[in-house]
Amino acid sequence: MVVKRESPFSQAVLLEKAQKRFEQSSELLPSLFSDPVVYELEKEKIFGKTWVFLAHETEIPSPGDYVVRYICEDPFIVVRTEDGDVRVLYNMCRHRGMQVCRAEAGNAAFFRCPYHGWTYKNTGELIGVPFQKEAYGDDGLAKEEWPLVPAPRVESIYGMIFGNLDPNAEPLEQWLGDAKFYLDFYFKKSSQGMEVFGAPQRWIFPANWKLGADNFIGDAYHTAFTHRSTVETGILGVPDADFHKDAPQVIAGPWGGGFVPNLPYQALYPEALYRSMRQHLTEAHHAIMDRLLWQSHSTLFPNLSFLNAPGVPEEGKVAPYLTVRVWRPLGPDRMEIWSWLFVEKDAPEEFKELSYRSYVLTFGTSGTLEQDDAENWSSITKVSKGMLARSIPLNYSMGLNHLKPLTDWPGPGTAYPID
Ligand code: FES
Ligand code: FE
Repeated sequence: MVVKRESPFSQAVLLEKAQKRFEQSSELLPSLFSDPVVYELEKEKIFGKTWVFLAHETEIPSPGDYVVRYICEDPFIVVRTEDGDVRVLYNMCRHRGMQVCRAEAGNAAFFRCPYHGWTYKNTGELIGVPFQKEAYGDDGLAKEEWPLVPAPRVESIYGMIFGNLDPNAEPLEQWLGDAKFYLDFYFKKSSQGMEVFGAPQRWIFPANWKLGADNFIGDAYHTAFTHRSTVETGILGVPDADFHKDAPQVIAGPWGGGFVPNLPYQALYPEALYRSMRQHLTEAHHAIMDRLLWQSHSTLFPNLSFLNAPGVPEEGKVAPYLTVRVWRPLGPDRMEIWSWLFVEKDAPEEFKELSYRSYVLTFGTSGTLEQDDAENWSSITKVSKGMLARSIPLNYSMGLNHLKPLTDWPGPGTAYPID
């Protein structure tokens, strides 16, 4: 959407004022969580230019395997071709625009459009046009000029496939910068790497996408209240609901996350996995682990979040899990949440199963903590549509004025103490 910046009443001017207000006094207007103009600007200025997570390579292990994934409303087929390459193709027929792939996942050498039958190889190449000669004449259609369109940019790290709508975007690893150290914590700790366990869970939810992204960056604060009952029932596998104290908060490039004190890693992971972690991570990672700090919740800008936490899959057992989630915007007041469980490929099957159960109980679609959070985010989105919400500021100043960065933090970026 084009916003006329010259009008003093335009949303762009109001947004500029809102930005200044935030920079000067850390106040935010709640309408940012439901305003359609803000949403259009986010699509253009954020999702049109930033690396967005699409899929993990272990979701499409064999030739022909594909999944359909999205950047906001833009659908892409992420497919492994016969020669083992991964292609990311825009899911839109070049004839009249029908979505050529109607399943969310499967295996196919070809995609045949259901409307008039144009057929594409899984490389994107157009290879079949029904009645081509009769419809277009002998030289009327050069099929090689009408393939499925590839995503403007695709790059991978740790088997995580990212797409970018901006052909001039900087390379993924360069963009990640210092964030890579922290992503290593989640993904580089096993000799064989991580894999997706089971299919991703997904659900549509009446809340603005930024509320999830923001919460996962640094809202350990809510645990003591929103999740108190869950912690007290023993489902979470942490000693008490106030565990956010002594939890450093770190910002490193496009990544922000929180660490929480926990049991030693070796008490929660099988011995071989723990040894593998030590072997693959650096001295700086070890220094953090030796402080008994877990890299718990975090978000990679704009909408990819992570949570590594211990759960209690059955009485007397504690099993950690790593869930990765995408807050896919579907409008200013609606999102689709995609949630994957990742486990070390070389972990014992029993550990994988326990880890999965820990995840489902806590952060699966019907997980207890997921339900707790859902209530807050949908309520905030609802009230933010109110007429007065446009002018009542919210206080976003926590930690900004009195905390000094830690000087002995072993990792890159800036770490702040919490208490
Ligand atoms: Fe796909 Fe016509 S829209 S073949
Ligand atoms: Fe929460």
